Order: sequence, then structure tokens, then C-alpha cells
Amino acid sequence: MARNIEGFTLWLTGLSGAGKTTIAVALEKELRDRDLYVERLDGDTVRQGLTRDLGFSKEDRDMNIERVTFVAKLLSRNGVAVLASFISPYREARENIRKETTNYIEVFVHAPLDVCADRDVKGLYAKAFAGEIPNFTGVSDPYEAPENPEIVVHTHQETVEESVAKILTYLETHGLIPTQEPVAVPSS
Ligand code: ADX
Repeated sequence: MARNIEGFTLWLTGLSGAGKTTIAVALEKELRDRDLYVERLDGDTVRQGLTRDLGFSKEDRDMNIERVTFVAKLLSRNGVAVLASFISPYREARENIRKETTNYIEVFVHAPLDVCADRDVKGLYAKAFAGEIPNFTGVSDPYEAPENPEIVVHTHQETVEESVAKILTYLETHGLIPTQEPVAVPSS
């Protein structure tokens, strides 16, 4: 039986390759280990289903985020810990998520563009710089960095564990997840 919490929408925004999915996957494990209801929504997978009809124009990205916002709203108001990882490059769309969902927490997953391009996990930056992918975020399309995110993680300077710990501490100190019971050390 999972433990009840109020529910929240932890929204990870940042460039492709900044580390959004990696952090969300690690967080998902931590939250499941704490017996919470968790749902992870990820750009690459949601775009294979719910939003497979959409591309990367501003209109399509806005529609992508609008549909995901609706899902996050339904889940977060019913006690689910929602972990959403989307580039979500437009400030206005992100402000709308804040209005619509329960306990919205914006996490700016930051790494400089050159670091993301060097990582090039999916080989997309090479294609984007070669002009083969139009409207590629950070290369030929805008990314409006958050102005007042609740949390910033610097993935070029921190380990995944450090970024995850920072987020867990935020969730604990804001009463959104129960604090972890300290492990009992047997006295000698
Ligand atoms: S968003 O802008 O609408 O929030 P989303 O996070 O769903 O984007 O999808 C981004 C993923 O789509 C990237 O991680 C990458 O794998 C892929 N992708 C394909 N084309 C583009 C593009 N033109 N710009 C950004 N990402 C793209």
C-alpha cells in the first residue's frame, strides 16, 4: 500500500541532453523506494503516443505541453508525484503549468549548450549543426531559461546523485514527501 501525499508536479525543463530524463529516472526510483505513487512523463515517450501528431514548431510545442499539463493536473491533484521532463522552451507555457497543476515545482536542468552538444547522446546536435534538423532547441530555435525556478541543477558540475539529493531535500523541506527515516545504526 503506497503512502498518501498531497501530490505535486515536478517539472524538469532544459536543453536536449542537459540530463532531464537521467535525473527523473533516478528520482522515480527514490520516490518509489519511499512507497509513493509516482508517474513519470517524458518528452521522448509521450511524443510516441499522446502527442505523436506534433512536431517542433512553437504551436506544436505549446500543444505538446498543453496536453501534458492536463495529464499532470489530473495526476497531481490526486496524490501522485508527477515527474515531467520536457524541453518546454517557452516561459509562457511553463507559467500555465504552474497555474494548472498542484504544487508545481520548476527544476531548471542546466548545462551549457556546448556541453550538451559535446555529450550529443542521441546524435541530434551534430545533425542540427549540419542544418539537417530545423527548429532544434538551442541551435536554431529558442530556449527561454527559467527566471525564478524553485530549483536549479548544474549537470556539468554536479553528479546525478548530487542533483537528485538537492531535489529530494527540497521536496522534504517543503513537506511534499515524508522525510527519510534515518537508518538505525546498532549501538556496540
Ligand atoms: S518540447 O519542446 O515540446 O518540450 P520535448 O521535450 O517534448 O520538446 O521533446 C524533445 C525531444 O525531441 C528531444 O530530446 C529530442 O530527442 C527530440 N527532438 C527532435 N527534434 C527536435 C527539435 N527540433 N528540437 C528539440 N528536440 C527535438
